[in-house]
Amino acid sequence: MIEVTFINADGTKHIIAAAEGVSAMEAAVSNNVPDIDGDCGGHAACATCHVFVEMDWLDRTGRADSVTELPLLELAEGVMDNSRLACQIKLNETLDGLVLHLPRGQF
Ligand code: FES
Repeated sequence: MIEVTFINADGTKHIIAAAEGVSAMEAAVSNNVPDIDGDCGGHAACATCHVFVEMDWLDRTGRADSVTELPLLELAEGVMDNSRLACQIKLNETLDGLVLHLPRGQF
């Protein structure tokens, strides 16, 4: 299992364990983590799974893809260099311990 910590804008931490191969969005939604919706089911079509990758983890997650993710992230609020669509982060053993921060809300 892969441990992922989601931190809401108010500082609340949600530490969950997910199976290898699922996306960070799927892991969050199936564990009822608030402030991440995943409205399109992970098809990179809604931007309601916007997360900020903790800087120490960016080398391992990679940055947002310019074809798939960046155009959608333009729809999200407060986008930063470490913004990603959580549905595009597939969990694997190199991401065990990953820390993702959530925006104040998803629209
Ligand atoms: S779940 Fe819709 S873009 Fe990620």
